[in-house]
Amino acid sequence: MINVFQPQLGAEEVEAVKKVFASNWIGKGKLCTQFEESFADYIKASKANVRSTNCCSEGLFSSMKLFDIKPEDEVIMPTISFVGAANAVCANGSKLVLCDVDRRTLNARAEDIAAKITHKTKAIMIIHYGGVPAEMDEIIDLAKQHNLYLFEDSACSVSSVYKGKACGAMGDMGMWSFDAMKILVCGDGAMLYFKSPEFAKKAEKLMYFGLESKSGFSNSVDAKWWEYDLSCFGHRAIINDVTAAIALEQLKKLPAFIAKRKEIHDKYTQELKNAAWLDLPIDIPSYAQSSYYFYHIQLKNGNRDELAKFLRDNDIYTTFRYYPLHWVKYYGVNDVLENAEYAANNTLCIPIHQSLSDNDIDLVVSKIKEFGLNKHL
Ligand SMILES: Cc1ncc(COP(=O)(O)O)c(C=O)c1O
Repeated sequence: MINVFQPQLGAEEVEAVKKVFASNWIGKGKLCTQFEESFADYIKASKANVRSTNCCSEGLFSSMKLFDIKPEDEVIMPTISFVGAANAVCANGSKLVLCDVDRRTLNARAEDIAAKITHKTKAIMIIHYGGVPAEMDEIIDLAKQHNLYLFEDSACSVSSVYKGKACGAMGDMGMWSFDAMKILVCGDGAMLYFKSPEFAKKAEKLMYFGLESKSGFSNSVDAKWWEYDLSCFGHRAIINDVTAAIALEQLKKLPAFIAKRKEIHDKYTQELKNAAWLDLPIDIPSYAQSSYYFYHIQLKNGNRDELAKFLRDNDIYTTFRYYPLHWVKYYGVNDVLENAEYAANNTLCIPIHQSLSDNDIDLVVSKIKEFGLNKHL
């Protein structure tokens, strides 16, 4: 089966983990700090603005507490968003407000968000769909104009840039995922960005029981390391030196991963551009850089489900991300969001990851073309 997403790990990660084992310190330690510093460099931010955590969903949930989003507040996000983002808002008791997206990029535009702003709106949680940056200038202006917090779910945008700025580092808070299906992987892990270093400090405490003094490795030189006080009733959401060791190796490989993904993206576009029954991803604007996390095709004739099945029967796995949240009954959001619904009915994310071979890519392309021929499209 050709997977739609797949991590790429190698001997370098194994060696790094061996060293951690030999060090006898597998908990949160020096390597976690090193990863935070290196990642901060990668996104051209200061270490003071970033903190690691155990998963990106933790960042989504913590955003509510850190920014004091109240039950009476409304949070707007595109309906094409990750389940964890919506759960974070609802679990907080706040009102989930869903907006439409651009039907080709599946990114929310400022006008989609503006249509949903009320006097109760407190925050906007955007995503950069498939690693392609949303149009941030307008969204940032809108957030400023209405005095709203801006959170960027950059789970899929580890290397995306908009007008020279890293996606995830343009709002009040941003977050990247390093789970098993992402580009940079470490099993589970995530990085958080905060515009204000004060919030980064607050987050660090929230994610470690609210402890005022540090425990464990980083506190091993204090005179009485068993004493502590709290600043909040925090929980425990940290990475460790095993995952950080893997993440550090992956970070070194990231530029090569992105280059490979771009190559695959360009090859798909080249090979499929004459299939008139398909809409391909639109060109990435010159002022933006993608992480090429998804390659999504859109079928103009309503055969998406059939194509997905045909490909699966031929050992090619595909999917659609993200099932519109307003169609999930449990959220209880009744709305008609036309572009998102068009996208949800016609879009298919086809395999893209750095382990795809030329043969794999050729097979995907030939099977898509074969489907078109069989159907006289
Ligand atoms: C857009 C988006 N946000 C957040 C997450 C959550 O990431 P994590 O698995 O690190 O919690 C995911 C994971 O698939 C995602 O796709």
